Amino acid sequence: MTAVVEVHDLRQVYRIGRGLFRQPDQLQAVAGVSFSVQPGRTLAVVGESGCGKSTLARMVALIEAPTSGRLALGGVDVLSAAPKQRRELRQAVQLVFQNPYGSLNPRKKIGAILEGPLEINTRLEAPERAQQARAMLALVGLRPEHYDRYPHMFSGGQRQRIAIARALMLKPKLVVADEPVSALDVSIQAQVLNLLADLQAELGLAYLFISHDLGVVRHIAHDVLVMYLGQTVEQGDKGRIFAQPLHPYTRALLGATPGLVGSGAAVPRTVLKGELPSPLNPPPGCVFSTRCPLAAERCRTERPALRELAGRQLACHLAEQLIEPAAPQH
Ligand SMILES: Nc1ncnc2c1ncn2[C@@H]1O[C@H](COP(=O)(O)OP(=O)(O)O)[C@@H](O)[C@H]1O
Ligand SMILES: [Mg+2]
Repeated sequence: MTAVVEVHDLRQVYRIGRGLFRQPDQLQAVAGVSFSVQPGRTLAVVGESGCGKSTLARMVALIEAPTSGRLALGGVDVLSAAPKQRRELRQAVQLVFQNPYGSLNPRKKIGAILEGPLEINTRLEAPERAQQARAMLALVGLRPEHYDRYPHMFSGGQRQRIAIARALMLKPKLVVADEPVSALDVSIQAQVLNLLADLQAELGLAYLFISHDLGVVRHIAHDVLVMYLGQTVEQGDKGRIFAQPLHPYTRALLGATPGLVGSGAAVPRTVLKGELPSPLNPPPGCVFSTRCPLAAERCRTERPALRELAGRQLACHLAEQLIEPAAPQH
């Protein structure tokens, strides 16, 4: 099957000005990330704030061109696509943001908000646009009368339903969701996550789901990519990584998530101390070495390559000694 999205060694380097006559600093926000997502599947990208998740999301959603790397949507290489093809690709991937308050025009009724993408990108007549908007309201669990209301009349969870509805109006194959439930109450989060799962089952959507919260990811992901300072440190099947996280950073993230540790797997606790280093001046060896409780001399000088180990991709020099025999069964 052709992947909905396939990304190879994607990088984003920002040049930060330092004034006249001085070389700009280089900030590697995304430092070589690779993955693919099949129809009907969800890849979750996790990591602390500042790891490069939103930058990755913007590149995959074609909002921002990468500095280097390959990006294909539905098997079509985006960076070498002709303008017309690129316009089609733009419709095949849609973005849902964290903040449903900021992303909906307060002066427009919901009907107009949903019909906006159709007006710009299709030749549909007004009645047909209205009919599609009403059908979409039903699909995301809103009521027909909501068509004539304004964004401020809705709760946070309902507004995120509207943002999801708008993203689906052009029938995308891929939805990039950047922290889509992080601004919502926990009880509402579950409803929106269920909606996303239902829509995926019904429409065969692929999701790139960005989150700093592994508790959320556990519910929605099929695969997980753990990012640290722009790099992939661990990547693979969700079940496998949650059952046996290997990278000390993955363990620290899991250990910091209430309700995940002690649920079957013996996850050794790693407490995350200190700050994320500046991506302007990343550590020379393993990017996690300055905060890793296990870091050895080699970790501070030599960058570990991402390699296949224990059924996933892992970037850690000490990986072999982290693999424990399975816990004895009683
Ligand atoms: N447009 C930009 N110009 C310069 N630096 C940026 C820009 N966007 C993001 N960054 C920097 O890139 C790094 C990654 O940011 P971001 O992708 O927003 O991370 P996350 O979404 O994981 O919090 C941060 O250090 C951030 O300051
Ligand atoms: Mg972000």
